[in-house]
Amino acid sequence: QVAEIVPLRKVLVTGGAGYIGSHVIYTLQKTRRYKVISLDNGYNSHPDALSRVSALLRSELPADASEHDIESTEIETHNSDLTRRDEIRAVFEKYGKGGIWGVVHLAAHKAVGESVEIPLTYYENNVAGTLFLLQTMKEYECTRIIYSSSATVYGTPPTIPIPETTRLEADSPYGNTKVMSETIIHDLCCADSKWSAISLRYFNPAGAHPSGQIGEHPKGRPENLLPLLAHMGVGRVDAATLQVFGNDYPTPDGTCVRDYLHIIDLAEGHLSALEALNQDSKVFDTSGARFKAYNLGLGRGVSVFEIIAAMHKATGVEFKYEIVGRRRGDVPKLIADPTLAENELGFKATQELSVMCRDLWNFQSKNPDGYGEF
Ligand code: WQD
Repeated sequence: QVAEIVPLRKVLVTGGAGYIGSHVIYTLQKTRRYKVISLDNGYNSHPDALSRVSALLRSELPADASEHDIESTEIETHNSDLTRRDEIRAVFEKYGKGGIWGVVHLAAHKAVGESVEIPLTYYENNVAGTLFLLQTMKEYECTRIIYSSSATVYGTPPTIPIPETTRLEADSPYGNTKVMSETIIHDLCCADSKWSAISLRYFNPAGAHPSGQIGEHPKGRPENLLPLLAHMGVGRVDAATLQVFGNDYPTPDGTCVRDYLHIIDLAEGHLSALEALNQDSKVFDTSGARFKAYNLGLGRGVSVFEIIAAMHKATGVEFKYEIVGRRRGDVPKLIADPTLAENELGFKATQELSVMCRDLWNFQSKNPDGYGEF
């Protein structure tokens, strides 16, 4: 008899064409349990990103893949902006009430330093955008959300490694937008038991899919350390010298320590969180609001100097650097306590820094200009 084709759960990924988004969409679509729809305004993402994801998914299909399988590698994309409520409604209107099963909300501006310079842009895009999204979700009876938060919500944490119970005290407008958005989502879950939400607090995502097909393609000069080193390695950034933002921190070698995790591990963390909402699993205790936050990290600390050494090992490139003053918004140490996600979501990041550097370099050396100018 004809196998009953169970309609796939439709999941809207905001910021779907970005670095995190493209790896999350690849990971969700690959399971063939979800039909992914991407909403992205193209502010910091390349128009070819999702066609590369589709090509990667197709390359992993068996030779005798069915038409249906090939078609399932296509990603529906909407070039829309979350600060435009009419544009969000148009996407939900297409599927009607209850048509979209859940949302993975990644779209945000994310540069700490920049947020200090232009806070209102960050509050509009990250907080108002989240509010408009939630209001539209409510209107269309879509009440499940995975929210992309960040370790920056902890500010300078009182204890390391950092558990999720740590007070939230961001010390940058960017970090505040993440705290505010988590609070809005939590209050919504308290007010209406139909809602369930999981907030994922990312530490430092790094690397690329091992195929080298997809990776990070920041606009202009990268802010973050690892993509900057990769750009220096391929000569995209004048490899004059890397500026190390301070070596007078209270850390073993004086430079800041961060908890890097592989972008594919991070994407798997989103799948685990979505499955937890899907199976209505026990992450939510019956009493309170159906809202939970989880750290996504490896649970290991790596300094700036150790990153430079690891990238030298992976690339053979000699990275010259000079020590300059501290960068505003930087905190000495951020290391996750990753055990809650492991115990409740069954998620554990495993890929080591050497693999992150290998996959980052594989992507960058195969695509010296990333996805090309845009
Ligand atoms: C890492 C370390 C810098 C560049 C960022 C965002 C954060 C999150 C993850 C979204 C720091 C040092 C960097 C350079 C340097 N993104 N550095 N010279 O700041 O830990 O986190 O990405 O959620 O919000 O802020 O990452 O890669 O920018 O910096 O010395 O040219 O490298 O001081 O200690 P960060 P990063």
